[in-house]
Amino acid sequence: MSDDTITVCVKDIFKEVKDILRIELVHHDGSRLPQFNAGAHIDIFLPDGLIRQYSVCSNPENLESYQIAVLKEVSGRGGSQAIHETFHAGMQIEISPPRNHFPLSMHAKKHLLLAGGIGVTPMIAMIYELEEKGENYLMHYCTRSRDNTAFYDFLQLRETEKKVFFHHDQGNPENGLDIKTLLSTNEPGTHVYFCGPASFMNAVEGASADWPIETLHFEYFSKPEDSEFEDKNDKEFFVKIAKTGDVFEVKKNQTIVEVLRHNGLSIDTSCEDGFCGTCITKYVEGEPEHRDNVLDDEDRKNFVLICCARSKTPYLVLDL
Ligand code: FES
Repeated sequence: MSDDTITVCVKDIFKEVKDILRIELVHHDGSRLPQFNAGAHIDIFLPDGLIRQYSVCSNPENLESYQIAVLKEVSGRGGSQAIHETFHAGMQIEISPPRNHFPLSMHAKKHLLLAGGIGVTPMIAMIYELEEKGENYLMHYCTRSRDNTAFYDFLQLRETEKKVFFHHDQGNPENGLDIKTLLSTNEPGTHVYFCGPASFMNAVEGASADWPIETLHFEYFSKPEDSEFEDKNDKEFFVKIAKTGDVFEVKKNQTIVEVLRHNGLSIDTSCEDGFCGTCITKYVEGEPEHRDNVLDDEDRKNFVLICCARSKTPYLVLDL
């Protein structure tokens, strides 16, 4: 666990819909929590050593508490089930400060929010921030049915103002939002934000292929289908630890994280697949071969996700 964790208490737990809990967290000593912008997420350090990321879905103006929403994923890796089964009011847990790889653009004239299922969570905070700033936005929210639609009351108020549109497909995507038609015209100045399950992400990615890359913003919560990084011909390289000068070889079938841990360094990870951002590390020399779905071009000038990245240069020097 990194040094800068925050001890928080579970203040309240609300049942949003079947299988989705909304959890309110407050600082353990009653002080205000660190500032964040919409799109940010926090790491939750679970008692059994698991680390999971959840978007902060509360109003960024309210730092008395953070709220997260957790979908119970029975076929998941156990983190969400543990939260559903063990979290209770008064419980103390550790979280990371908020990190944001999915911020709103300051250059957009209009913001188009596309949410699939639990991918709605960062967009609730986005709506708070956009309304606070008086920005122009529209949201399309795709779920199976009304019964699976978290944050319904909050969003329904905006539906009456024609800012939010619900799309219930009853389990058949053909009955849902026609993403292809929606994104067939690229309105200059419009930025698109999308978050949802893999099939939803694929559909939006495909439909927005002609949009300028800088107008597309997304957050994955699982490894993309058909990852472009599979079946690469990996090569060996060396990582150097800037503070100690230690050098370690990363063989073609190893990750940087594996090598560092093997050599006694403690590295926080969660997904180990390049979509959560937990293993973000600054590098100071060399050129990484990035293989994640988190960092943008600006981030990549200084940071690398060491659970999945490799190196284009023989040496990669990490600021550790
Ligand atoms: S651990 Fe999730 S991106 Fe590296």
